[in-house]
Amino acid sequence: MTQEQPIIVAKHVSKIFTDPVEFRVLDDINLTVDRGEFVVLVGPSGSGKTTLMYALSTLDTEYEGTITVDGTDIKALNPNQLAQFRNTTIGFVFQFHYLLPDFTVLDNVSLPAIKAGLWSPEEIEERAMKNLTLLGVADQARKRSSRLSGGQQQRVAIARALMNNPKILFGDEPTGNLDTKNTALVLDILQDLKTEFHQTILMVTHDMQFTERADRVVAIRDGRIIQHEQQ
Ligand SMILES: Nc1ncnc2c1ncn2[C@@H]1O[C@H](COP(=O)(O)OP(=O)(O)O)[C@@H](O)[C@H]1O
Ligand SMILES: [Mg+2]
Repeated sequence: MTQEQPIIVAKHVSKIFTDPVEFRVLDDINLTVDRGEFVVLVGPSGSGKTTLMYALSTLDTEYEGTITVDGTDIKALNPNQLAQFRNTTIGFVFQFHYLLPDFTVLDNVSLPAIKAGLWSPEEIEERAMKNLTLLGVADQARKRSSRLSGGQQQRVAIARALMNNPKILFGDEPTGNLDTKNTALVLDILQDLKTEFHQTILMVTHDMQFTERADRVVAIRDGRIIQHEQQ
C-alpha cells in the first residue's frame, strides 16, 4: 500500500430501505477521497448524506458495492476487527456532541483512548490535554462537560474524535447547532488540522463558510452524486 492511494474508495455503493416501501437511499455512489483532502458533502434534507457518511465511516456495512478505507475492504472485516479498525482509523463528530454530561471534559476526551488500550494513563492524559489545547478548551478540562457552552462542547467533541489520531475525521453537520461565530471557529480549527497535520476531513454541512473553504464540494441528490466541484 502506498501513500498515494486514496484513503477512501467507494465503488458502486447502493443501499435500499424496504420499510415501509422499497426506497433506494443510495444509488450507485462512486467516490474517492485523497489523503489530506478536506471534502464537504452537501445536499437537500433526505438526500442520503447521513446514510452515506455511516457507510463511509464503517458504522454501517449493510450496502451493495465496496468501500475501501486506507486499503482495507470494510466488509471483509469481522465484527471485532471492524471495531478495532474503526477505533483507530475513524474519528466522528455528530450534530449533537454526545458528551457524557456528568464526566469531566478530560475524562470525556480520554475515553476513546482508554478503550483502545494503547497508552498508559499518563500518556492518555497528556494526549487529551494536547488535543484540548489544540481546540482552545484546555482551561475547561476539569469541568463537567454539561457546564460548557454549546460551542465549547462541540470543540471538546472534536478533541475526543481526534484522540486516537484518526486517519479520517468525519463530521455530520457538526456546526448545525452553533452560531455563526462558533461555526467560524470550528471551521478555522478544521482548516488548521488539515494544513498542519494533513488531516483528511469529510464533512456534511449546509454552511456556506465550509463550502467556500473546502478542497472539494460533493453534491448529492436522491442518493446520487450529481456534482464534484474542484476548488
Ligand atoms: N432506517 C431507515 N429506514 C427507512 N428509511 C430510512 C432509514 N434511515 C433513513 N431513511 C430515509 O432515507 C432518506 C435519507 O436519509 P438521510 O441519509 O438521513 O438523509 P440526509 O442526511 O441527507 O438528510 C430519508 O428519506 C430517510 O427518511
Ligand atoms: Mg443527515
